[in-house]
Formats: sequence, structure tokens, C-alpha cells
Amino acid sequence: FGTPVRHIAVVGAGYVGGPTAAVIALHNPHIRVEVLDKDQRRVRRWNSPHLPIHESSLIDIVRVTRDGASLSSRDNSNVPTDRLPNLFFTTDSQASLAKADMVMMAVNTPTKTFGIGAGRATNMTTFDAAVKEVALYARPGTIIVEKSTVPCGTAQRVRQMLDAVRPGTPFEILSNPEFLSEGSAVRNLLHPDRVLIGSAKTPSGRRAADALASVYAAWVPRSRILEVDAWSSELAKLVSNAMLAQRISSINSISAICDRTGADVDEIARSAGLDPRIGPQFLKAGLGFGGSCFRKDIASLTYLAESLGLPEVAHYWSQVNSMNDWQRDRFAHKVIHRMEENLVGKKIAILGFAFKKNTGDTRESLAVDVIRVLLQERPGEIAIFDPCCLSEDIMRELEPVLDANNRERVHVYTDAYQACEQANAVVVVNDSDPFKQAPGRKLGKSNSKNASTEQQPFETNDMAKEIHIDGSRFSYHPTQSPICAEDCPDCQSTKSRGTMSIEPVEWARIAYGMKEPRWAFDGRGVLDVSEMEKLGFRVDTLGRHT
Ligand code: NAD
Ligand code: UGA
Repeated sequence: FGTPVRHIAVVGAGYVGGPTAAVIALHNPHIRVEVLDKDQRRVRRWNSPHLPIHESSLIDIVRVTRDGASLSSRDNSNVPTDRLPNLFFTTDSQASLAKADMVMMAVNTPTKTFGIGAGRATNMTTFDAAVKEVALYARPGTIIVEKSTVPCGTAQRVRQMLDAVRPGTPFEILSNPEFLSEGSAVRNLLHPDRVLIGSAKTPSGRRAADALASVYAAWVPRSRILEVDAWSSELAKLVSNAMLAQRISSINSISAICDRTGADVDEIARSAGLDPRIGPQFLKAGLGFGGSCFRKDIASLTYLAESLGLPEVAHYWSQVNSMNDWQRDRFAHKVIHRMEENLVGKKIAILGFAFKKNTGDTRESLAVDVIRVLLQERPGEIAIFDPCCLSEDIMRELEPVLDANNRERVHVYTDAYQACEQANAVVVVNDSDPFKQAPGRKLGKSNSKNASTEQQPFETNDMAKEIHIDGSRFSYHPTQSPICAEDCPDCQSTKSRGTMSIEPVEWARIAYGMKEPRWAFDGRGVLDVSEMEKLGFRVDTLGRHT
């Protein structure tokens, strides 16, 4: 396990696998990184100009690593060196696994919906199936790395599975959880707060951990690479997410007190956050946390505590999820109550469907539960607008709350003004910049400078023919990048999705098209209440009064 890593296979070309592989490949041009996925469409998109996920600057890194580039570095400014492609996406897992000296598991690990531990335990079916493939095809000596978020003890479980399929074959198993956030994945990967590597505390386990550490050391300072035991590493990931989510539920519980008393939750968060022991982050009150991980990771922590015979600990953490559910329910009922408990025949526009800004990810969208409650009141129409999401993703996510009676009432729009036309109420569900009223932005006036241009961690010139990444200048030849056929299906489907750079909505124009009384419900603290009132809106929020 002490030999340098030359070939990494990443299993799972999702939100974690794809960007992680791209950044490893960028900083380790001598390592061949192959990303495997069973989903042919996903792999096709990774091999095309239409990446399956939206992350700022990801396409530039993928172009350099997947398509090749000429490189001029800071020290070697005018002498371009050719950089060969070293990032590949494939469905041929057998061939890739057989060549790899390191395999990173980045498959999905959702919550179990059936049987023992339903609703809390992790469904390991996908993960186990991927491990079995690795067991069948990997070479002796391969280092297997858990990048997926897994229950504590999984490293041990993987070892037992490998032993059952390939008895006596040496493999090392490491835990290396990922801490990136969607929407800032590339920045988080290029500049991680920490890289955690958990191993068996044996000489070969330590050597394997060092081999993985050397891959990261190509761009991460050694002081940020922490080597611990596998159990601590697996538990640390669950705890990080649980603690972040706990802050959100804590501030949301306070928003309910603010609603009853007239105190302002933003002022309280600001005041508390100025104490350096508390800090300002993750204190934004709103509809709660969505996304594919917080809920499931807290559920997993709860189940772990239960399994260890610690019901008080399990109850403590399960409250974080319960408060999150309650907040959404509270908000949806607020909407109904404010509209005289009668939504029959009324049109409600939902602005934002992704679980947060700067992503098109609809998993665990906060909108679903809100829409579920609203639909029970038989509104005339629920009109959804989120330019970052594909309409097929929105409808798939809503499927569990749709039935023959309400399906026809739900529509997805690609234009905010059409979605809000003749609406009785607008409900802001995510914190995307286009829905925000930034201080100083004149209401009703589109200001393209304020459009949601994402922060680029590096510059991109002239349609990315030249890219600057951390002090290196890459020029890539557009002819080397894949070009779409005229009938490319992904060109067609992305037309409905727009981009992450969207003009801010003109609230005056929205107001103009709406029915009176015009209601605006702010589930994310993005609206300026007094400015909205000037436009004739009646506004309700979660714990805010300004
Ligand atoms: P994802 O669903 O986006 O991607 C998983 C991919 O794995 C899918 O494309 C799926 O087709 C593929 N896959 C499943 N089984 C396979 C197999 N046997 N062979 C090849 N491919 C297979 O999931 P994700 O969001 O990337 O999350 C992956 C893991 O990382 C989860 O455990 C999650 O908790 C964790 N995580 C996610 C994030 C995030 O921001 N999404 C951040 C940190 C950690
Ligand atoms: C989160 C963690 O931040 C990552 O460190 C972790 O790696 C990842 O989960 C994971 O394991 O999947 P992510 O879910 O992408 O990342 O997004 P966050 O920025 O954490 O937001 C999660 C949810 O909380 C969103 O719905 C967001 O709108 C909400 N949120 C966040 C609040 O309601 N208030 C806040 O103050 C912050």
C-alpha cells in the first residue's frame, strides 16, 4: 500500500464523485482518474458540454482535465506545456476497477424506507452492490476509500464483504468523508477546511492513509489533512452535518417565538452570531434545511444512538429533524390562514424549487411539503418557477404528493412573470439571488449587474479558451472539447433550464400582474417587507418584520 497512486477509479458520477474526481485530476496530472456510473445518461452528459450538475467553474476544470490543455504556470510563464487528458467518465466498471490502485466509493446512501430501522437507518443496498463489484474486479492491494456518507462501522463491514468474496486478498479500507456543499463544490474542493482520513490503525492501514494523503497534498496544506481511525472519521461526518442542521433548527424555533412576540429573528441571529463562540454561519432562519443529506445523516445518527441503547441521545438528535418538519408545516398553514383559510380556485405561485440557491438539485426540496399542505385546500393552480431546475426533476420530486385529483392543478413555468400572472399569492421557497431584494437594488428595475453571477474562484477569458486556476494558466483548444450533434437531446432539455446567471425578478412587474389582495409569503428572508408593502403587497414572513 506504500506505492504511489497512479490510477484512481471513482464509483458514482454524482454531486460528490464528479467534482471530486475533476479536482483530483486537475492537481494530479500524473494520476489517471476514471469515474464510473451505471447511469448511461449521466455518463453521456459528463462526456458532453452539458454536465449533469451545475457547479460554478466545474466545466472549466472538466475541460482542462477531460479534454486536455496547454499549460503556462506562474514560474514558467511563456512556455506552454501540453497537458494530456487524465479524467474519464465511463460505464465500464469492470475494466476500470481492474486497473485501479485506489477506488473511491461515491454512491448514494439514502435512508431506508422499509423493514428494520425504516426512516432512520441507511439503505446500504446501492453501496453494498458497488462494494461487491469492487470485490470481484479490483486488484489485490487496492485501497478502497469511502467517500459516501456511511453508518459508523462501514469500514469493518466492507472488510467482511471483501473477505467473503476474495478471502485472503489484501485490501485496505479508508474513510474519507466529503464536506463540500452544493453550489460551492469547486471552491470547497479547491480550498477545503479539512481533509479527514480514517484508517485501521495498523502499519498497512497507515500506509494506505498516507497514500491517500499524498493525493490531496498536491494542493491541500498538510496541516489540514487529519489522519484518524475509521470509526472517528465516519462519526465525524455525521456529527458535522448534525451540528450544522441543529443550528438551523435552533434559530427556526426562535423564529416561531418572534412571530408571537414581534421580535426579529435576523436581529437575534446577528446579535448571537457576533459572539465568536457562536459565530454567524448557519443561523439564517427560514423554511428549514432541505437537500439530500442533513435529514438522512441526522436520521443515521439517531439510529446509531438507538442501536447503542442510548434513547435519550437518539431523541435529542431526532428533534432537529422534527423541528425542521414543523417549521415547514407552520409556514404552509400560515399561508392558508392568511388567505382566509380558503384557497379554492386561487392561484399560488411558488418561486424556487431547488433546496437552496446556486443549485438545480431538487432532492428534499422544501417546496414539496409546502405544496402538499396547500394542495389539500384545493387551490385552482400551483404555479412553480425555478430556472435552475429541470421541469422533469420538479415533477418527479412532487410525484409522492400528486394524485388524480390534484395533478392537473400543478404546473411548472419557465418564466417568473407567467408563473405569477393572475396569482393571489407568491410564496418564496428558496434563497436564490434573483428573488432577493438586495439593499440598494431599486425595486421593479432590472439591474443586470446584480444578476446572480456566481463568484468564480478563477477567471475565465474569451469563452474559457484561457483559464486561470490557482496561479496556473491553462489554454485549451475548443476543437478538443466535445461538440453536440444538431439533435442533441441534452441541448433540448437544458433549454428549459436556463443558467445560474439569472436576472433578478422585477417585483413591481410581478405585483402588476397579480390579483388583489397581493400576498407575498417569504420562506427565506429574502424580501424587504417595507419595499414590498410600497408595491401593494401584503407580506408575511418567518420571524421577520423588516
Ligand atoms: P448522487 O445520487 O448524485 O450520485 C451517486 C451516483 O452513484 C449516481 O449517479 C448513481 O447512478 C451512481 N451509482 C450507484 N450505484 C452505482 C454502482 N454500483 N456503480 C456505479 N455507479 C453507481 O449522490 P451524491 O449527492 O453525489 O452523494 C453521494 C454520497 O456522498 C452520499 O453518501 C452523500 O451522503 C455523500 N455526500 C453528498 C454531498 C452532496 O453535496 N451531495 C456532500 C457530501 C457527502
Ligand atoms: C451540507 C453541508 O453544508 C456540507 O458540509 C455537507 O458536505 C453536505 O451537506 C452533505 O453532506 O451533503 P448542502 O446540503 O449542499 O451541504 O447545503 P447547505 O449549504 O449546508 O444547506 C443545507 C440546507 O440548509 C439548505 O436547504 C439551506 O437553504 C439551509 N440553510 C442553510 C438554512 O436554512 N439556513 C442556514 O443558515 C444555512
